[in-house]
Parts: sequence; C-alpha cells; structure tokens
Amino acid sequence: MTAGHLRLGVNIDHVATIRNARGGLHPCPLRAAEIAAAAGADGITVHLREDRRHITDDDLARLAGAIALPINLEMAATDEMLAIALRHRPHAACIVPERRAERTTEGGLDAAGQHNTLQPIVARLRDAGIRVSLFVAPDARQLEAAARLGAPVVELHTGPYAHAHDAGDAAAELARLAAAAAHCARLGVECHAGHGLNYANVAPVAALPELAELNIGHFLVGEAVFVGLEAAIRQMRHHMDAARA
Ligand code: PXP
Repeated sequence: MTAGHLRLGVNIDHVATIRNARGGLHPCPLRAAEIAAAAGADGITVHLREDRRHITDDDLARLAGAIALPINLEMAATDEMLAIALRHRPHAACIVPERRAERTTEGGLDAAGQHNTLQPIVARLRDAGIRVSLFVAPDARQLEAAARLGAPVVELHTGPYAHAHDAGDAAAELARLAAAAAHCARLGVECHAGHGLNYANVAPVAALPELAELNIGHFLVGEAVFVGLEAAIRQMRHHMDAARA
C-alpha cells in the first residue's frame, strides 16, 4: 500500500495551446512550469505530440534546461520520440497511444497487443535511466502486459471515469480504477492516474491508497483563466490532500 503523499504532476500542454493560437511567445510554458513549482507541483508533464499541436521541441529543450522539477514526457511509441527522449533524458517517460485525428488521448495503450513494438522502446528508455510508464486502461490484462514489458509504472486512464462522473454515475468506473490500483500493488508496479480530473471528481481517485501520482492538465489551465494558475494548483493540491487525510 502506498498512501502518504500523492504526487501531482501538472500538465502544461494547454498553456502552449493558448500560445499557439496566436503563434507568439505568450503565455510561456516555462513560466507556467515555474509557477507550478511555486504552487507545490511535484513534477511537470508535457506531451510532445507528433503534430506538435501544443508543446514544441523548443519548449521541451527549454524546460529540460531550466526547471528543477522532474519532467514527465508523454510520448508515442515511435523512433522519433524515442530519439528525443534519449536526447533530453527527462526524469520519466509515459508512453501513450496517439492518433493524429483525436482531440486528446482517447484510449489506453494496448500493452498486451503491442508487446513486440513496445518492448525495445521500454528497454531503451529504462537503460537510459528514464522511469517508464505505460498509459493504460484499468484492465488486469493490460496491467499484466505492462509488468511483463518491465515497465516500473503504469498510469491508469481516468477519462472514462471522468465522463461517467459527468453523467452522474461513476461507481462502476471508480470500482475499475480501485481494482486496477490494487492489482498494480500485487504486480509490484507503481500506479499513477490521470486524464479528465477536476475539483469535482478528483477526491475518490486521490483516496485510492495504492496511487502514487496524478497527472492533471486541461482543467488546471482552464481554471487558471479565472483564478490564476498558482491558485488553481493549490486548490487541486488541497482536494488531493483532503482525500488522503
Ligand atoms: N495523463 C496522460 C497520459 C495524458 O495523456 C493526459 C492528457 O495529455 C493527462 C494525463 C492529463 O489529462 P487532462 O489534461 O485531461 O488533465
């Protein structure tokens, strides 16, 4: 059982989304990372997508050179992204499925079906000292496949839980997450979670004792429009700590 401090990785992709809407320099993801650090974030998460729709290679280089917090690079399982990860050596890499037409990461990785593609990428990242996680659905088969691949961490996709919560009935999806987190503990795999989390739905997830880290982005950047990024992160931290207390 993990319990104790639940780490918060703040995903700053959508600071870059707003910047890119005008193509200039503002708002700056590096400044967002510094504010996140001041607000008590435990890490900075960025997704360098194949189409560079938000974070760019230059953003990643600047973040890697400037911030003290650990960086978690979300990346597709491609040779291009592997080369970039090996060049910048982030603290962590989270392998995610990526489809060009999707608005956001819609499903979990098929760790079971893609064993042969993922195996060398997981191995090369691990050999470089990068903590590898696989973003998967809360499904025992996927967790067991992740463990077979030698991934020390999985991140559970909380998107379906978030949708169910919006629809007013999250019990079944929460039970899936709880069972998956417990299964991770049995497999000896560190368990993280993320996607679609907000103030209203974070507490039951944060209360799962096996979870070590949440990664949260879109809601925090959206809320920052109203209250500022630092206040939004502090409030999220408060909800997470209250759920753990
Ligand atoms: N974790 C992973 C693996 C993701 O792909 C994303 C979205 O980029 C997040 C967490 C954060 O999701 P959200 O922006 O909905 O908080």
